[in-house]
Amino acid sequence: MAKLLEVENLQTRFKARNGFVYAVNGVSFTLDKGEMLGVVGESGCGKSVSMMSLIKLLPPSAEITNGRVVLDGKDISRANTTEMNRIRGSKVGMIFQDPMTSLNPFMKIGKQLCEGLIYHKSIKKTEAMQQAAKYLELVGISNAEHRLYEYPHQLSGGMRQRVMIAMALLGEPSLVIADEPTTALDVTIQAQIVELVKDLREKMNTSIIWITHDLSLLAGMVDRIMVMYSGFVVEEAKLDDIYKDPRHPYTLGLLKSIPSLKTEAGSRLPSIGGAPPNLFVKPTGCPFAPRCSFKKEICTKQVPPLEITPGADSGSRHRIACWVDIKTGEVR
Ligand SMILES: Nc1ncnc2c1ncn2[C@@H]1O[C@H](COP(=O)(O)OP(=O)(O)O)[C@@H](O)[C@H]1O
Ligand SMILES: [Mg+2]
Repeated sequence: MAKLLEVENLQTRFKARNGFVYAVNGVSFTLDKGEMLGVVGESGCGKSVSMMSLIKLLPPSAEITNGRVVLDGKDISRANTTEMNRIRGSKVGMIFQDPMTSLNPFMKIGKQLCEGLIYHKSIKKTEAMQQAAKYLELVGISNAEHRLYEYPHQLSGGMRQRVMIAMALLGEPSLVIADEPTTALDVTIQAQIVELVKDLREKMNTSIIWITHDLSLLAGMVDRIMVMYSGFVVEEAKLDDIYKDPRHPYTLGLLKSIPSLKTEAGSRLPSIGGAPPNLFVKPTGCPFAPRCSFKKEICTKQVPPLEITPGADSGSRHRIACWVDIKTGEVR
């Protein structure tokens, strides 16, 4: 399949009072056209900062120190602010956790939806409003023509998130980055939004990066999963390979903490012990070693490289950064 996105050795840090916070430490991955990738890891592991680094949507204290990003065959690593604005408006759509931070509370929904269209596609207002109504219908908002004239607070949380999805899709982007888009919603609405995105993706063949701290949410949704820890990619494989054949102790821990039907009601789920990593220092060994029950001597001495190994399907890849084979407990 054709590649939409190629990311190589992305590194981002924040200037802090006494040094740097190393948030993204060499992230590499690719995304095919029409493919859906889930990015998972505990809160603070660098999911948002990595993906926002791709499109340079970062606070002023952030600094991208390395990396190459190729989108649709074009190297955008060195694109300036004007070029990046254009790319964000036309090629990349974004959906965030809290629609209220992205929607303007004082502007009618139709006007907000149309602004981007009028600006980036230079189409007339009446045509833009028709398009906006069409997209509201597409994301399952009934009475769309009427809704265009309402303000965000007149909609429920789930409906506002649908408006955000419509807004992200309106420019027909080739890539959508959805950053924990359902985290603030209750479980039923969450499931509806997941179904909606799956459905839209089939209709529009958009590539999607879906960021979440909840591995269970990705089941039956994404094609591939990339697991992050401490600003590193520690494992990446097809969905089934992650669920059935996890090879990183951290992924194993994430899977064990998913409640399953087998878990007795009321019984406590195992969580991953130990404290999250200190991002003020670059690790000299595996970043997960301090919390890892499989740890060997080498793990504290050298950062394991992200190696490509064969996945279960012929020709598929399973990338893994771990010195130990968790099946035998021995160094590989
Ligand atoms: N504005 C900021 N200033 C300093 N450090 C930050 C800032 N934003 C994020 N970080 C650091 O970067 C790390 C990664 O953050 P983030 O990508 O938001 O994590 P998540 O995986 O939860 O999306 C965090 O642990 C945090 O320490
Ligand atoms: Mg985040």
